[in-house]
Amino acid sequence: MGDKHRVHFEPVDLEMEVDEDETVLDAAFRQGIALMHGCREGQCSACKSFLLDGDVQMARYSTFALADYESEEGYVLLCKTHAYSDLEVELINYDEDELRNAVPIQTVRTSIAAITPLTGDIVSLKLKLAEGERFVHKAGQYSEIRRPDSDVKRSFSMATTPASTDENGEIEFIIKKYPGGHFSGLLDSTLRPGDEIDLTGPYGSCTIRASSDRRIVCIAGGAGMAPILSLLRRLAESGTERPVVFYYGARTADDLFYLPEIISLGLKIKDFRFVPALSHVDHAEWGTLGVTGDFGLITDVVDRQEPDLTETDCYLCGPPPMVDAAIALLESKDVPNDRIYFDKFTTSVSES
Ligand SMILES: Cc1cc2nc3c(=O)[nH]c(=O)nc-3n(C[C@H](O)[C@H](O)[C@H](O)COP(=O)(O)OP(=O)(O)OC[C@H]3O[C@@H](n4cnc5c(N)ncnc54)[C@H](O)[C@@H]3O)c2cc1C
Ligand code: FES
Repeated sequence: MGDKHRVHFEPVDLEMEVDEDETVLDAAFRQGIALMHGCREGQCSACKSFLLDGDVQMARYSTFALADYESEEGYVLLCKTHAYSDLEVELINYDEDELRNAVPIQTVRTSIAAITPLTGDIVSLKLKLAEGERFVHKAGQYSEIRRPDSDVKRSFSMATTPASTDENGEIEFIIKKYPGGHFSGLLDSTLRPGDEIDLTGPYGSCTIRASSDRRIVCIAGGAGMAPILSLLRRLAESGTERPVVFYYGARTADDLFYLPEIISLGLKIKDFRFVPALSHVDHAEWGTLGVTGDFGLITDVVDRQEPDLTETDCYLCGPPPMVDAAIALLESKDVPNDRIYFDKFTTSVSES
């Protein structure tokens, strides 16, 4: 344990303790304060804040998340910031309702219940909680997965809802396989049902804001389906009155999955539209798929189909280039930053 200091957050007038050995973000998690965050690895910029006063040091981060000129101006990434004096920090993105409403971080024991291929390179991984374990989370959050005998930790978004986790003790993840990937590369043949997995979380800010009645716009690509599916499953459970549209980008029709479930979830949401978009073909047998979609990059499709997004809450999940393009599009359409929630599936910085 290092020396302890105080951190005061503006403009929310909130104060907490931080140890020199922990990051400001981890100190917040420890004390039940939900600061905005994404990757927790200095890769996504979701935790970017302004240092008004105090001495800090930042561990290694990506200059895509914080450019050198921003760092010189006084911006910091709270997931990489260690305090060496009392700090005064101005939050850029925050949600006053969520701020004091964090779910405590837990580590629970699970075992693999099933690994099921969904497309050529995406699988569903179902984990079963060990006897006596409970995992509290919100729809749209993610957790960190680690095999007990390994140092490799990877983040994956829950596709299931808190209610279904409580009901059957099972949590689903949707994972894109990278050949040779330290974790996803094991899903083909190394990992098997019954294998133990430790789960730490929940993390992430892509949750439904109860205080909002705005239209919900979800934009995802590839395995970015996972947190959106969790949100849709939750919205269907709750019988929401809010209109919901889900734009999903895939390369070809063979990369689409869970269409029957999305259609049936849509029937439980009063005003729901699903728009799959294929980027690598200009023809699809939509009739046989049971849906109608569009063609092109998902952001171009949203641009064409959504003339006015000003009164919406937007959820973006998937590969970093897609999320960055979607954020730029939403900003160009005057969606305020505090109504854009995103999980960028950034790669881990270290190999382990
Ligand atoms: C907040 C968050 C949530 C996430 N949720 C999910 C999720 O729900 N589903 C999911 O599939 N992934 C998700 N990810 C990504 C996931 O954590 C891993 O980074 C990914 O599965 C690769 O890990 P790996 O160990 O298999 O590959 P690594 O061993 O880390 O990488 C091996 C090689 O694979 C390739 N590679 C790895 N990741 C990428 C990438 N994103 N783009 C291009 N090439 C890549 C690279 O060549 C890399 O060198 C999430 C990431 C974050 C930060
Ligand atoms: S850069 Fe800090 S949470 Fe991603």
